[in-house]
Amino acid sequence: MVEMYDIKDKVCIVTGSGRGIGKAIAIKLAQAGGKIVVNVRTHEDEGMQTLEEVNKASSGILSMADVSTEEGRKKLFRDAIEKLGKPDILINNAGVGILEPFENIDEKHMQLMFNTNLYSPVWLSREFVSKYDNGVIINMASLAGISPFPGLSVYGMTKAALISMTKYLSLEAAGHHIRVNAVAPGVVKTRMGDSLLKIMNLDEKNFSKKFTLTGKLIDPDEVADTVLYLIRNESMTGQVITIDSGGEQMATDYFR
Ligand SMILES: NC(=O)c1ccc[n+]([C@@H]2O[C@H](COP(=O)([O-])OP(=O)(O)OC[C@H]3O[C@@H](n4cnc5c(N)ncnc54)[C@H](OP(=O)(O)O)[C@@H]3O)[C@@H](O)[C@H]2O)c1
Repeated sequence: MVEMYDIKDKVCIVTGSGRGIGKAIAIKLAQAGGKIVVNVRTHEDEGMQTLEEVNKASSGILSMADVSTEEGRKKLFRDAIEKLGKPDILINNAGVGILEPFENIDEKHMQLMFNTNLYSPVWLSREFVSKYDNGVIINMASLAGISPFPGLSVYGMTKAALISMTKYLSLEAAGHHIRVNAVAPGVVKTRMGDSLLKIMNLDEKNFSKKFTLTGKLIDPDEVADTVLYLIRNESMTGQVITIDSGGEQMATDYFR
């Protein structure tokens, strides 16, 4: 039988895990026996709710830290090391998705998007690979980083760069026995996903009909399953798995 990477007792940092995809990943990794660092920026109540679920399956801590800042990233690693030990798995999940037509974008918008969606994974990953050997990094990219979507240009740029970072880092991190992969979801049933539908003035049913081949939105738990697969399969590195209900083909057709 092929040996899989064992998550049991591994210290897993999941950024942005108060709700949505990050929460589903934190719980999934706890169910696999990992010790979880739950992270949120502002919503402590949501972080505590995730931690409660994590503690039912395994154990963890809550680290309140804004990973878009250097201070926040330092605090996150400090909390992890002091309370749980050396991190083994880093899930760069925290992200912001704000729709803004290209002609309206400004410096403030660019900075928020790049600091959160790209620089945070870059600097956290740099800290991880420069200090530790053996482990796994997963970056939460997006379909928007592969196929263009109106109003999501800056978001798409950050996610495209994150996909590129995943491939480059997998080459250099291999020497440290660290695998690096990414997941690129289409629209997922979370607060971020809901706000996109609202702006498009579409309900779940109509969006799914127009933009998916499967006729349904993606559940956060399905994304978490994909993350789990990428962590456990020791032959996966430098890869991007798209989980988009077939949305890539549909988006191109719809906007023609
Ligand atoms: N939902 C989708 O359709 C979709 C599709 C493709 C990719 N994604 C990506 O998947 C990831 C998760 O998205 P989601 O839909 O689950 O989002 P969400 O429902 O908005 O949840 C985002 C989580 O990230 C935290 N967060 C945001 N900025 C942070 C920061 N600077 N530092 C620490 N935590 C921060 C939030 O905590 P606070 O509220 O406390 O700040 C919250 O817990 C993102 O990277 C997103 O780009 C989402």
